[in-house]
Amino acid sequence: MPYSIETTALTKVYHKKAVVDRLDLRVESGSFYGFLGPNGAGKSTTIKMLTGLIAPDGGEARLLGLRLDRKPLDIKRRIGVVPEDLCLFENLTAMEYLVFVARMYRMPRNTAYRRAEELLDWLGLDENPKALTLEFSHGMKKKLSLAAAVIHDPELIFLDEPFEGIDAIAARTIRTALARMVQRGATIFLTSHILEIVEKLCTHVGIIHQGRLVTQGTLAEVSGGAGLEEVFVSAVGRTEDTAAGLSWLGGAGA
Ligand SMILES: Nc1ncnc2c1ncn2[C@@H]1O[C@H](COP(=O)(O)OP(=O)(O)OP(=O)(O)O)[C@@H](O)[C@H]1O
Ligand SMILES: [Mg+2]
Repeated sequence: MPYSIETTALTKVYHKKAVVDRLDLRVESGSFYGFLGPNGAGKSTTIKMLTGLIAPDGGEARLLGLRLDRKPLDIKRRIGVVPEDLCLFENLTAMEYLVFVARMYRMPRNTAYRRAEELLDWLGLDENPKALTLEFSHGMKKKLSLAAAVIHDPELIFLDEPFEGIDAIAARTIRTALARMVQRGATIFLTSHILEIVEKLCTHVGIIHQGRLVTQGTLAEVSGGAGLEEVFVSAVGRTEDTAAGLSWLGGAGA
């Protein structure tokens, strides 16, 4: 199967405006796809549609070869997601939460505990086993959310800004783990504003702007000789020095 994600004219409308506008994504199986775009471009809305959190208003999507509208449960069993708005059950410990998630995927109890233990150790979340997740810092919640997204060894993983609020050491651990997951054959679809990370990790890149896909392809194809930042800035059309408009900073309008 060549594509893990294939969308045709996928569309979401809010207040009569297409915030995701006839999107044709092609994410090759086994690729590490970086989905880039400025704030409000439609990245999270796309992920929410693809993971079944919200319904599209138009178009079609196939994940792992299955139609999203026809086989949502079969798809959900085989994917993992770190959503933009983390939704953890706050009155559980990290271990309880992970085992709960694993059991939802019908994992045997022993395997669930073993994997949860390994994940908590790997992410350094095992220091205070009695802490409830409501006591966790933002970065700790993000790491726990990542652990929950991969505990059932999914074939396709959606990560909506997994590095946001994560310290440098943890970011490195996560980068290594994600690269290993791809090496084992998983496909990763990630959004991030940190272009250096995308350049380091991703094999493929797509840029979305105002709901429309501006470009997609291999990292080399998209970034060309220019580098990703140059391509990104010119794709989203904000090349001017915007600070020049701030009169109180002594810009051009002062
Ligand atoms: N529930 C909603 N109701 C109305 N408008 C929404 C809703 N969710 C998103 N939008 C709008 O859709 C557009 C795309 O939002 P989205 O969250 O997908 O952007 P994004 O690319 O993820 O941005 P960011 O980089 O800031 O996370 C924005 O204009 C946003 O205001
Ligand atoms: Mg977002």
